[in-house]
Amino acid sequence: MSNYHIKHLEEYYQVYRKSVRHPENFWEEIAEEHFVWRKKWNSVLEWDFSKPEVKWFNGAQLNITENCIDRHLHIRGHKTAILFEPNNPGEEARHITYKELHEQVCKMANVLSEKGIKKGDRVIIYLPMIPELAISLLACARIGAVHSVVFAGFSSTALSTRVNDCGAKMVITSDGSFRGAKTIDLKGIVDEALKECPEVKTVLVAKRIHSDISMKAGRDEWLAPLMDAAYGDYPPEIMEAEDPLFVLYTSGSTGKPKGMLHTTGGYMVYTAYTFKNVFQYREDDVYWCTADIGWITGHSYIVYGPLANGATTVMFEGVPSYPDFGRFWEIVDKHKVTQFYTAPTAIRALAKENLDFVTTYDLSSLKVLGTVGEPINEEAWHWYNDHVGEKKCPIVDTWWQTETGGILISPIPFSTPTKPTYATLPLPGVQPALMDENGQEITGNQVDGRLCIKFPWPSMARTIWGDHKRYKDTYFTAFKNMYFTGDGALRDEVGYYRITGRVDDVIIVSGHNLGTAPIEDAINEHPAVAESAVVGFPHDIKGNALYGYVMLKETGESRDRDNLKKEINQMITEHIGPIAKLNKIQFVNGLPKTRSGKIMRRILRKIASKDTSNLGDTSTLLNPEVVSEIIKEVL
Ligand code: WT7
Repeated sequence: MSNYHIKHLEEYYQVYRKSVRHPENFWEEIAEEHFVWRKKWNSVLEWDFSKPEVKWFNGAQLNITENCIDRHLHIRGHKTAILFEPNNPGEEARHITYKELHEQVCKMANVLSEKGIKKGDRVIIYLPMIPELAISLLACARIGAVHSVVFAGFSSTALSTRVNDCGAKMVITSDGSFRGAKTIDLKGIVDEALKECPEVKTVLVAKRIHSDISMKAGRDEWLAPLMDAAYGDYPPEIMEAEDPLFVLYTSGSTGKPKGMLHTTGGYMVYTAYTFKNVFQYREDDVYWCTADIGWITGHSYIVYGPLANGATTVMFEGVPSYPDFGRFWEIVDKHKVTQFYTAPTAIRALAKENLDFVTTYDLSSLKVLGTVGEPINEEAWHWYNDHVGEKKCPIVDTWWQTETGGILISPIPFSTPTKPTYATLPLPGVQPALMDENGQEITGNQVDGRLCIKFPWPSMARTIWGDHKRYKDTYFTAFKNMYFTGDGALRDEVGYYRITGRVDDVIIVSGHNLGTAPIEDAINEHPAVAESAVVGFPHDIKGNALYGYVMLKETGESRDRDNLKKEINQMITEHIGPIAKLNKIQFVNGLPKTRSGKIMRRILRKIASKDTSNLGDTSTLLNPEVVSEIIKEVL
């Protein structure tokens, strides 16, 4: 039996039981057998959730890039590590081999080091999905600098806040980016942001769109000539297992963004292990995750997890709708992609379009499909299963968070029977608990509660950069000796987990606990509905009542609105019960979304309760314009 690669359900249960009974032995075996360490650990795990403090492989030394690159050179030096697919389908894809990746990363490591970046320094990376982005992360890791990637769709204010919060001395960016038919002036945004960031001494600029930009003398430098002149080898900096690897910002329910700090050894072991199992990765696979490296999904499952396994990982610069809605499927066909990992929001958007966009292409190379980021509704699950996977590819609904570093709950393909809308079972080493409002664990099956994790896993965030107290308050205070996820979940009769959504999205109507996700699922089952969001608003008698924002499909637009409202409530009644019927329904042209595709329910809640005075910062939204449209209709 191999702990490292699970192949059937019995084996999963055996491995899982072992991982819970003897977590240290379990992770120690994996760490020992599958990675290169410069020095062995003194202890596998030291932890105390009351502080909270967690140390994995303490005392061990390593460099993560040696594990992601160097050790592959003699066996797969000429294999493609990164397969870059440009925004414009007319531009040729680039195959960067492990050998080339090694050279590029070493060159950039030399550049960073010549610019005075040392172990422990923070470097902000604000780049589009071009190879320089992955290379920058790895170059930082090579020299022991702490990278902090800011998604290149964030505004200058969002960027300067993050630069200052982590005290970065350097920013790596590009002249601009391509996104579908548009170009974006990234350098202009950086210039604007850096007016507020006196500590930044150097800006390295990659050339991508060849636009005419201004370079500030003494601060800005083109990256390419520096890379050309740099030496192509750089000895990996020897890091402690618990040395910081990166900071990645995630929005909190209140206040400024939280810089989640991830460390080196445990993060490497966990992302590599979960990549291998959740995607059932094999040597000749071509794996594609459509996320942006600006999110944790890209860090763990485009860069570190795949490369630690010597995989070929696709990096796509563009968008699913350019030049048309068939782009994803064209790429799958062209590169013979074997694992495809995307977000439910993308699936829903593509499912709205003509099926010809899918059927034109040969998707027979696909073996495993994945989703992440939000609950996937049944309709989208079935569309994905029927039309993309052609009913032969298991769908892994992977639940995790920026804070968790890696996937915690997910089916293992070909082992765990899937069930639509269920993330199913905890991965080995993960010990979930459902808690009630009084802080008691709810045991047994067919129950629901607040989702906590009661034992450390190797890739958990260790703190919030510069604010350990906030880390403790946010995650370790609500439930004693537990990591609180902020999500609600139910456990069905066989122990499968279904994530019901953020606990802050649970609405209590007449004393009944209602999750927004199942109601939205029911609404979305209506053939005229494309997408919906449900929030609560204060109600005299019920305490809270439900408000539904509903976006119609093109085919639904001509329908009578009053009839539609009746039918939607009928749908809900059928799926959940009359208690979940909506008090108000508003038809909208779009729902406000974050850049990662999550519906901003906070804003919708405020509008529903007619409190539009202080909507907070809407500048980081994907589509801020829909907010004013929605308000106009209400008032
Ligand atoms: C929140 C974390 C993990 C990378 C992308 C998002 C929600 C995530 C699922 C899923 C239902 C999910 C949770 C979680 N979420 N995956 N498979 N099913 N909900 O990372 O931005 O840190 O968001 O996303 O609510 O708490 P994130």
